[in-house]
Amino acid sequence: MTAIDAQSQPWWKRGVIYHCYVRSFLDSNGDGIGDLPGLTCKLDALRNGTPSSLGIEGLWLSPVYPSPNRDFGYDISDYRSIDPMYGTMEDFDRLVAGASARGIHLIMDLVVNHSSTEHAWFRQARTSRENPFHDYYLWSDGTNGKPPNNWGSSFGGSAWEWNEQTHEFYLHSFLKEQPDLNWRNHRLRKDIHDIMRFWMDRGVDGFRLDVANYYVKDAQLRGNSHEFVIAQPMPGNPSKTLFIPMSREVYDHTVDQPETHDALREMRGVIDEKPGRMMVGEIAQHTLDQVLSYYGDGQNELNLVFNFFFFVRRFRAKDFRDIIERTLDLLPEDAWPAWVLSSHDVIRAVSRYHCSPPMTKSMIGLLLTLKGTPFLYNGEELGLANTLLPRRLLQDPVAKRYWPLPVGRDGERTPMPWDATPNAGFTTGIPWLPVSAPAMSYSAESADPTSVLSFTRRLSWFRSHHSALNAGDMSIVAGPSDTCLCFTRRSSAEHLTITINLSDQTVAIPRGSFTSDQTPLFNTEEQPSMDSLAPWEVRIADTSA
Ligand code: NOJ
Ligand code: CA
Repeated sequence: MTAIDAQSQPWWKRGVIYHCYVRSFLDSNGDGIGDLPGLTCKLDALRNGTPSSLGIEGLWLSPVYPSPNRDFGYDISDYRSIDPMYGTMEDFDRLVAGASARGIHLIMDLVVNHSSTEHAWFRQARTSRENPFHDYYLWSDGTNGKPPNNWGSSFGGSAWEWNEQTHEFYLHSFLKEQPDLNWRNHRLRKDIHDIMRFWMDRGVDGFRLDVANYYVKDAQLRGNSHEFVIAQPMPGNPSKTLFIPMSREVYDHTVDQPETHDALREMRGVIDEKPGRMMVGEIAQHTLDQVLSYYGDGQNELNLVFNFFFFVRRFRAKDFRDIIERTLDLLPEDAWPAWVLSSHDVIRAVSRYHCSPPMTKSMIGLLLTLKGTPFLYNGEELGLANTLLPRRLLQDPVAKRYWPLPVGRDGERTPMPWDATPNAGFTTGIPWLPVSAPAMSYSAESADPTSVLSFTRRLSWFRSHHSALNAGDMSIVAGPSDTCLCFTRRSSAEHLTITINLSDQTVAIPRGSFTSDQTPLFNTEEQPSMDSLAPWEVRIADTSA
């Protein structure tokens, strides 16, 4: 890509996108559950046109549609409405207006691999094989009362559930309350396109596509293969063999089917009906090639695809460099990366890597300076860690049913701490989960210029004013040591060099190198040394000359 200016960048390439788990953001009516009016009254903290806010470009809402909440909103019973728990359609319109007045673009979660069993489509579909909605879902007679194949639910157990009324099995890639939709049915596809238009007409700027690589399944229902990891030398005693009683399903006939790409190209057509709209897809896969294939040719499938590979690597310059380099190499021309460190499904990065506040700053420093769109999960700007919860307080029905406790998703979903009032200002009632780290808070970190929040705001503001960061090219260059990540960003207007010391050791800067003879434009240190980088230091230098 040639160097370009920020002005020609669409918003979803240009700025930070904030991931808001609405249920845990702010409760406006004391029922202990975050809601849309709560979020609306915090919009200024997200973007108020000054460096005292986060300065986000986009706001992705976790699902707020009516739902029986077997999977906290990822089981939708009506795609064209708002769950009363979160507010009304008028509340939603007020959120859209408030966001748009501040220049924030709104992204809805679109969960269309499956619906809820409570959706009117499924309630009809399951009544008879002749029902016009029967073909909106995936069915099989099975054999001798058994499921037709070995397909497993991603949450555990078989992916097939018996439906007594029609005497057949239906497919559910997740919970049995989340039946998979039949993407080979063209009426269903058209309904989904109309749902997208419905929200775009209401002012929504984009969609986050839940499990977008799952849509179409093998028509012949061929079984998936299984990989067995059965034997390895016992650590510490290699003469003995350790047997690991585990089989890993390879989803070769349930995910990544070629027809899924056709479906996404059609959806892209719908997105492109209105200027400035976008879709970002959740593709959790083992290889970068598989993940990046969802950009299509770079113009015709997903606008952005989450890059989750930081989740599974160590906090080392070498690991980050490897993922970044390979991503930039494999990305189709014109495609733009999307980086993620934390989400509502995985342990927060601060806990994953055991980050101290300075280490957190180096991590956020990396997220906000890479080429690509940074996705920031609510609380990440404070440096929030996961909350350790006693078993009796766990709420995630998926984890309670299938996963060994306490490994669940509640720890990364606890409510935001806003201030020093009871329940950290999240609710006047009883919070649905205990509030995260009440000792930390938005207001305390706002008042502290050395906090993670103040750092994140400062860097986000800096990023938005530097076309090299928000629009430019990127090249990894040799840094002063292996523990540093060093790269350049270049637009037509400027050339910046970013050096991040991803270690707790001071690193000497060799004489005569780019950073040795000028004051950095941006720095984590109040008084940066010309001869060395402090532990975890983030330094941005102007290297245009
Ligand atoms: C991915 C979502 O992020 C997760 O929370 C959900 O449980 C599954 N998809 C199923 O919809
Ligand atoms: Ca509420």
